[in-house]
Amino acid sequence: MRYLIFGAKGQLGREFVKWLSGGLVESLKGKTVEWIGVGREECDISDLNQVLELFESTKPNVVVNCAAYNLVDKAEEDYVSAVKVNSVGVRNLAFACNRYRAFLVHYSTDYVFDGKKENALYIEDDKPNPLNEYGKSKLIGEEFIKEEIDNFLILRVSWVYGEGRQNFIYKLLKWAENNDYLKISYDEISVPTSTRTIVDVTLKALKEGLEGLYHLTNSGYASRYEWAKKVFKIKKVNKFIYPVSSEIFNLPAKRPKFSAMSNEKVSQELNIEIPSWEEELVDWLNRRMEE
Ligand SMILES: NC(=O)c1ccc[n+]([C@@H]2O[C@H](COP(=O)([O-])OP(=O)(O)OC[C@H]3O[C@@H](n4cnc5c(N)ncnc54)[C@H](OP(=O)(O)O)[C@@H]3O)[C@@H](O)[C@H]2O)c1
Repeated sequence: MRYLIFGAKGQLGREFVKWLSGGLVESLKGKTVEWIGVGREECDISDLNQVLELFESTKPNVVVNCAAYNLVDKAEEDYVSAVKVNSVGVRNLAFACNRYRAFLVHYSTDYVFDGKKENALYIEDDKPNPLNEYGKSKLIGEEFIKEEIDNFLILRVSWVYGEGRQNFIYKLLKWAENNDYLKISYDEISVPTSTRTIVDVTLKALKEGLEGLYHLTNSGYASRYEWAKKVFKIKKVNKFIYPVSSEIFNLPAKRPKFSAMSNEKVSQELNIEIPSWEEELVDWLNRRMEE
């Protein structure tokens, strides 16, 4: 098996590299796995020629796409850049996977939903209706995959955190260093999900030969305010957090109020229990403090 990982320098890509290089992969035991991780400098996924050249030289069996344009607010004024990576880039990978008979694993987002579903978590059969340009570009990416290839795994994830700076926990702890108190929204609700959970479940899904579209999050859900409170409790940060409406931030991109997704389908198919967001957060932060 040869894995080719795109976006290997992002937070999810780095977690894949860590698992594959550190022998943490219980689900791949007994198989010889070679892997290659590439960042944007080695291969820009929006350039089909670069993608095809890399496929020709590496001949992967499994392609994991962790590359994305994730700047949700910036995408409002720079939709072209978001589409280049999240839609065209994804189509390029799907096209190359089809040509080289490789299996594609791709990550999408809860921001494909408008957050207006009432009293229930979003499931795979719910109709997407993105509110912002980032969500639109990611949804087009999903559609391109379905058009180009039959064998794929699309995993919609939410509020991803891992090592790196492009996540809420990092930003929260930075804000806490520089402010006496913080204002965090109580009316944005989704599921904080660790890169560790995502990699673990993805590798199990690959082992079991799962195909199609699935929601992959930690279990349960939380507001940003609840998430922040929990981080401060674990890290013993003694700063006051005001729960506020997200409206006061006046951000360029609209965000869904409630985009929490259910992981029931993937859990049932793999016969696994995915840890709750709280359990995972406690363990993840405690381990980081020990390192
Ligand atoms: N982060 C979240 O909260 C969140 C929420 C929902 C879904 N997701 C999805 O989860 C997946 C993983 O996200 P993440 O948090 O790991 O993202 P990330 O940390 O922002 O990493 C994305 C990586 O993609 C690279 N990239 C950007 N444009 C590229 C291009 N044209 N060609 C090749 N590489 C390119 C980036 O490189 P540069 O740094 O050089 O730009 C970066 O290393 C993505 O599909 C994302 O949309 C994330």
